[in-house]
Amino acid sequence: MFPEKLINTLQQAQDIVVLTGAGVSAESGIPTFRDALTGLWQRYDVNQLACEDGFLSDPALVWGWYEWRRHRVLKAKPNPAHLTIAKLAKQVPKLTLITQNVDDLHERAGSHEVLHLHGSLHQPRCIACESLYYLPSIDMMQLTTADQECRINPPRCSLCGGLIRPGVVWFGEALPTKIWNQAVQASLQCDLMLIVGTSGLVWPAADLPYQAEKTGSFVVQINPTLTSFNSIAQINLAGKAGELLPQALSICISRKQ
Ligand code: OAD
Repeated sequence: MFPEKLINTLQQAQDIVVLTGAGVSAESGIPTFRDALTGLWQRYDVNQLACEDGFLSDPALVWGWYEWRRHRVLKAKPNPAHLTIAKLAKQVPKLTLITQNVDDLHERAGSHEVLHLHGSLHQPRCIACESLYYLPSIDMMQLTTADQECRINPPRCSLCGGLIRPGVVWFGEALPTKIWNQAVQASLQCDLMLIVGTSGLVWPAADLPYQAEKTGSFVVQINPTLTSFNSIAQINLAGKAGELLPQALSICISRKQ
């Protein structure tokens, strides 16, 4: 079922980059953004919820929406795709995991030093002085009450009184410089790039596979639907990450033994 070339490349790879998007968390029950029926941007207004102007015009709406998403993530569990990526990192000399996701499911699956290009739901900060704000821990028993999106006034910064905003990168904002530079460097150096579960529609993250391909890495994509990466990936595996990734890795491991 898997091309021989893929198994050989996976077995021989010394330096792998895995670039993930919302699709890697879909099988954990976290909605993607652009899937036709279930994507968040099909149901919600991206201009209201994913840019600073939207937040400033209605902070309670935006803060409540991100709290709803954070609660959803807290209740979710890593799926076999997250777990396989963490396992793969132990099998190869170097693996850099770059994600556009703002959840922490990669970390909870055992991945370390994940490069979060778009920030984190779990690390809000002051909109004025940028101090980090530590969210109070949530009683897991109470999580069911946060099942609905609702308006919640954002907390205030204890240092300057500014509004606390979600710790995600919004449209029109720059990616965190250090993380972006690390992601570019890793993409230029890797011998294999695995693109998992991203539509490739958001830049500059979508440029990373092109950088990898330009410098000669082998590019593999896992996604049930076509994306712009189909034309640059040497291998396109059409299907769910939580099914294909564990199968591919188990073939590699059994061949090595
Ligand atoms: P999208 O919603 O744009 O794309 C999700 C991709 O995952 C689609 O191509 C789906 O076909 C694919 N997919 C769905 N289920 C899958 C599965 N089980 N296995 C593998 N793939 C699957 O999400 P992203 O590309 O991550 O920004 O979106 C990029 C950015 O746009 C996000 O980081 C977010 C959003 O606005 C921020 O949060 C700042």
